[in-house]
Amino acid sequence: MAGRIPQNFIDDLIGRSDIVEVINSRVSLKRKGKEFSACCPFHNEKTPSFTVSEAKQFYYCFGCHAKGNVIGFLMDYEHLSYIDAIESLAADAHVDVPHEDSGFTNKNQEDKQPYYNILKQASELFQQELKTSERAIEYLKQRGLSGEIAKQFKIGYAPDGWSFLSDRLGTSNENLNSLIKTGLVVNKENDKTYDRFRDRIIFPITDQRGRIIGFGGRILDKGEPKYLNSPENAVFHKGYELYGLYETKQALRQIDRIIVVEGYMDVVALAQSDINYAVASLGTATTTDQIQKTFRTTHEIVFCYDGDNAGKKAAWRALENTLTVIRDGMIAKFLFLPEKEDPDTMVRKEGKEAFERRIINATTLSDFLFDKLKSEVDLATNEGKAQLANKANKLIQKMHNSLFKDLLIEELSTLVGLSQQHLESKISSASQEKRKHAQTTKPIRGQQVQNNKTRIAIALLLQNPDLANQHKVPDTFQDAFTKGLPLLYELQKTIETNTQLTAAALLERFRDSEHEKAFNILSVLQTPETENTDNINEVYKNLIERLHYEDRDEYFSHKLENNVSLTAEEKKEYLAHCMK
Ligand code: CTP
Ligand code: MN
Repeated sequence: MAGRIPQNFIDDLIGRSDIVEVINSRVSLKRKGKEFSACCPFHNEKTPSFTVSEAKQFYYCFGCHAKGNVIGFLMDYEHLSYIDAIESLAADAHVDVPHEDSGFTNKNQEDKQPYYNILKQASELFQQELKTSERAIEYLKQRGLSGEIAKQFKIGYAPDGWSFLSDRLGTSNENLNSLIKTGLVVNKENDKTYDRFRDRIIFPITDQRGRIIGFGGRILDKGEPKYLNSPENAVFHKGYELYGLYETKQALRQIDRIIVVEGYMDVVALAQSDINYAVASLGTATTTDQIQKTFRTTHEIVFCYDGDNAGKKAAWRALENTLTVIRDGMIAKFLFLPEKEDPDTMVRKEGKEAFERRIINATTLSDFLFDKLKSEVDLATNEGKAQLANKANKLIQKMHNSLFKDLLIEELSTLVGLSQQHLESKISSASQEKRKHAQTTKPIRGQQVQNNKTRIAIALLLQNPDLANQHKVPDTFQDAFTKGLPLLYELQKTIETNTQLTAAALLERFRDSEHEKAFNILSVLQTPETENTDNINEVYKNLIERLHYEDRDEYFSHKLENNVSLTAEEKKEYLAHCMK
């Protein structure tokens, strides 16, 4: 099985590819001066604010702030994993992706392949069994499902009996081990085994690539438990996967919205009614990972839970989780069905059109948020208004900065009669408090980029890696006093050891590192310094000298103030420093 992809291959691949070409083959770009532009593919807009820089090999949207290099674009636009994005880029360039044969990753991946194999074989056996079981076919028919939909979702039937799978697939120790590790077969004490799924309708759960990673099994008659699911294992993580997401992507080229429902049967029944864009969280509350994953596929999510109290609770949890991930250009809505109905019963009762009308008219996130909070307080009193402001503040604090956040604050301000400024200062001081707390518990001196000059220097270097070959940063930056300088040093060293790195490849190096976020922002930062490309060398050189001077100044003052004596060498440096 595949191992780690060598870093120099990735560097080279990015260096050889052209982001303008890659994006232009998917989104038609127009040249505008030095850059290219288009209407942003990641959010809805009428006038173009999506720009692609040929020189920097980055894209950036002024509307929704989507940004990144060619790999990031493919991941977001084509909904690909990191590895798949590299594979896709390599295929375009007609080169094979090499994999290293050693190391942990490789071993890790090697271990999983037998699981995928056994799950696939089990699914095929279940599907075959369905064809011969009158009872199971009758059950699905009575629930309104056609053979076609059953096939599309690979629905199967696990026959009654304790060893259906282990007899057929557990033919070697290795296979039996895979059956047990994936939870298809349960290992009793004294080494006896039995099949987990017996006399149940089987819903296979697939990952993003269409590989089967687990199953849900429904009992045909009444009985407990109604649903039985695969346990968590090396390939199946409930909080991360969504039932139906792969099928949605298969069914639709463009996904305008996705509806998130509670059950397997809801997803399948909606698809039966030609609503091919439903996914289900797997018997748990919808997690932030699942919401983020869904927003990678579409820009609008409609959460649709049962009309009972449990459903309302689940919806509120989804709202809280959505707030932490939502950005401008993303929409979240909530659809509440009448009591005792779920999407399956509802769509069968009233049909596609009526159900889609409900989807279109779903409650907006902000209405749900404020209606719920209003119902909990007495807005006629100052006490009630303060309560509401506090509750709303707690929620709004979790959000990324965005226009949407500003609008929620504006609405809150009208509701409680406090100025927006007042509310904003409360919200930001609370989040600063949190940040301060995080800093005191985990000191990271020299790691955070605060000083504006440092930010600009890092931005210049990220955007023009060749600068590192022209002006070396001083060694004192390595453990400098000033925040951000050690990072600049790290960047310098990375470029020095890989002199051919392009800006986009450099950014790629820091994916998944603690600096990823800062670097993503700085890689597209536009300031007079970054834009004035004529004398960028001079500007960078002066900036580094200035930063060096200020940092040493700080260093010497600190020593002298604390009566720490200087070494002979430092004394010399200090004298020269004072003459500057
Ligand atoms: N669920 C589960 N285990 C249970 C009950 C439910 O894992 N014992 C999960 C399943 O993913 C199920 C979802 O919760 O699809 C919703 O449960 P429920 O509303 O009870 O079932 P329905 O989807 O309505 O199933 P059906 O229509 O078949 O009764
Ligand atoms: Mn149901």
